[in-house]
Amino acid sequence: MSQKNQTLGEFIIENQSAFKYTSGELSRLINSIRLAAKVVNHEVNKAGLVDIIGAAGDTNIQGEDQQKLDVYANNKFIQTMTKRNIVCGIASEEEDDFISINSQDENHQNKYVVLIDPLDGSSNIDVNVSVGTIFSIYRRITPVGTPVTIDDFLQKGHQQVAAGYIIYGTSTMLVYTTGSGVNGFTLNPAIGSFYLSHPDMQFPVDGKIYSVNEGNYIHFPQGIKNYIKYCQQEEGDRPYTSRYIGSLVSDFHRNMIKGGIYMYPKSSTNSNGKLRLLYECNPMAFLAEQASGKASDGFTRIMDIQPTELHQRVPFICGSKNMVEKAEEFMRNA
Ligand code: AHG
Ligand code: MN
Ligand code: MN
Repeated sequence: MSQKNQTLGEFIIENQSAFKYTSGELSRLINSIRLAAKVVNHEVNKAGLVDIIGAAGDTNIQGEDQQKLDVYANNKFIQTMTKRNIVCGIASEEEDDFISINSQDENHQNKYVVLIDPLDGSSNIDVNVSVGTIFSIYRRITPVGTPVTIDDFLQKGHQQVAAGYIIYGTSTMLVYTTGSGVNGFTLNPAIGSFYLSHPDMQFPVDGKIYSVNEGNYIHFPQGIKNYIKYCQQEEGDRPYTSRYIGSLVSDFHRNMIKGGIYMYPKSSTNSNGKLRLLYECNPMAFLAEQASGKASDGFTRIMDIQPTELHQRVPFICGSKNMVEKAEEFMRNA
């Protein structure tokens, strides 16, 4: 039985058998993400010292190049998963193409591919605001022992076997699902362990927070404009509160705990919105649905969209079920 204060390591072992493919491979993969997360967390926490230890592009006192944190996080997650040899392929928001890891070698039986947004909300780093990492895991569809192909990565979101995020916030948390609910673990930095602090996380069915970059209002579709006006009307429990951090991970995390809706719609300047289907929307949609929430592009369930390219963007509306359904109603009727 999972219980509060259990470490993430204990939780993974205990829940391994509940996962339908019980080879232990997925557990090892989540363990490696946990490890990389701790290393990246350490680096993110030092970001404010940039004037002291040197900025990106500088050479530090040990003669090492200082990397931008998104590049650092990208390298760290890829290195950890490559060196431990537990996935057959990785695709990253920071890489042009997917990476194959010994997938053509018949001795390598690894079945999983990982898609990752190594540092989400990166524009917030310089101002000491929470950032995150998002990951999404699929079983390859091509046979083991053959090279991974683009088709292994372009799977619909409902094929995900696991997804999650790390939030580097006032405390650092790892939140993930393997398809039987969402659990959140908080890092105790003194000990370096994640502890189960938020078991079985659930989006409240209704909420009072809407999160959208309203600076783009003029460019939004009419349905979104109408829904925003609805949020602002005085009636019943409205007007709602507006909260927008500008880090999807942080906005999602707050809305899951308090109840709310996040929107990154398409606009007249951005025909498919901004967020990436594979690295951002699908993993967040999986988490949302596993926590009784909902994720849509305004008309279609996010996890039913057939991806056609790695860096594809989609409009994204995600959060408390009733709020997302209300926004969809405004989209249909506009
Ligand atoms: P990333 O830092 O990985 O590029 O993602 C930033 C994303 C998302 O986290 C955030 O919600 C959104 O971009 C903010 O965009 P705007 O500044 O256009 O509102
Ligand atoms: Mn991002
Ligand atoms: Mn990013």
